[in-house]
Amino acid sequence: PPADVMKNEPDTDFDLAQNQEWVRNIFAKWKKSPTDSPEIIPLQIGAETVVCEKRHKYMDRCQDDEVCVCEMSQADAGQVMKILDIAEKDPAGWRKTTLQERHKIMYEAANRLGEMRGDLIGCMCAVTGKTVVEGDVEVSEGIDYARFYSTSMKQFAELPDVDIAPKGTILVISPWNFPCAIPIGGIVAGLAGGNTVILKPATVAAPVAWLFAKAFWDAGVPKEALQVIITDREALKVLTTAPAVKHIILTGGTDTAQNIARSNPATPLSAETGGKNAIILTASGDRDHAIMNIVASAFGNAGQKCSACSLLLVERSVYEDKNFQDKLKDAATSMKVGSVWNPGNVVGPMITNKNDKLLKALELEKGESWLVPPRFLDKHKYVLAPTVKWGVRPGNYSFRTELFGPMLSVVCIENLQQGINWVNSLDYGLTSGLQSLDEGEQKLWKDSIMAGNLYINRGITGAIVNRQPFGGMKLSAFGGGVKAGGPNYCACFVKITDKLGST
Ligand code: SER
Repeated sequence: PPADVMKNEPDTDFDLAQNQEWVRNIFAKWKKSPTDSPEIIPLQIGAETVVCEKRHKYMDRCQDDEVCVCEMSQADAGQVMKILDIAEKDPAGWRKTTLQERHKIMYEAANRLGEMRGDLIGCMCAVTGKTVVEGDVEVSEGIDYARFYSTSMKQFAELPDVDIAPKGTILVISPWNFPCAIPIGGIVAGLAGGNTVILKPATVAAPVAWLFAKAFWDAGVPKEALQVIITDREALKVLTTAPAVKHIILTGGTDTAQNIARSNPATPLSAETGGKNAIILTASGDRDHAIMNIVASAFGNAGQKCSACSLLLVERSVYEDKNFQDKLKDAATSMKVGSVWNPGNVVGPMITNKNDKLLKALELEKGESWLVPPRFLDKHKYVLAPTVKWGVRPGNYSFRTELFGPMLSVVCIENLQQGINWVNSLDYGLTSGLQSLDEGEQKLWKDSIMAGNLYINRGITGAIVNRQPFGGMKLSAFGGGVKAGGPNYCACFVKITDKLGST
């Protein structure tokens, strides 16, 4: 669609006193105490709910005391079969609604998501340890997806000589690091085309999905057309291999995508997966500006973004400059780190204290040293302060492994071409950045780097719906790499008939 079809939803201005008061109210509601009784979230099976004995417990990782935020019911394999049956039969007739009706309902859902912004942020803080500011941006992105995909589906269907029809049931498997925006994108892409949707959010962040699903149900999506469930590993296999599921949308690990593709090769899979993303800084770059972008990209959301900057490749003259080293160190160590219940902290806890890949990378290999050594700030080791490893080489573990934590590896390069070669030698190709003021370097880099989203002289995270379609290549994408938040995305989830009658 043309860029003017939609205005992106603005984020909250936290400089305003009234919004600071609003944050205090969110915290008062969502920062639970050990004496609070946790909410018990039932399992949804169509329009019915049932409280299961098997439940996942959500602990607040920002408090030293054991504080349970809520518990969520888990489906077993038999319940998954029932959920699949409802989705396939579509008893409420979602697929018979018109595109116009669905478009209206999605816009209404977007409004309701805006009304529940505070609760969505609070839930993300409590359950996943996301900061208020990162949570706020994510709610805006979810609202953008709801409006953009429903509009883009309608515009697509209105093209002359094109007929669209639902595929059937779409399974959306979403990640914990963006527990609001990404699943909303998937479900709207499915629902807008008249498909029924089963959402299987990452278990560790699923209460956020239970919350925002209400916006869709209250706006007019039947509960039978949007079912939200968590399962165990065995029941998940039932879901991912079910013949009723006609398309799977996954955002998650590369290995998860590979396993699904292997176990169910017949069902189309659109997956946005891992990343090992690099920024190259050449001698022509503005160093202060670059450092600001580098630390924001490396340590935002505690480095837990598939788009995060994990590698910094620096041309030798800058790499050896003590002033540059000191400034990078200062920028990393001056970030406020800790509990997200302190709104001044910009780096919160990690989702797990058992990230083996990250823990392995916190050891030094030959030739490596610390510019900023690792420091855990809490007793349970969820909070790792921004860490910078120096002297990393292309063969090293930290060079090639996706770490998903607040650690940046710095590599010395002799020139831009060497940097490009080394970045292109990685298995992944999601985001990539160049910090250079030289137009010739910019052109060389842009023409040769193998990644989906390229950013020059800015950070490499935070793609905006309808402005920067997001998606990668190589091991970062499955299913043709169609980009989320871009104009062609929705067309993947409907059957298309052109005027020649072919599908
Ligand atoms: N779309 C996000 C970003 O651009 C990652 O999922 O950072």
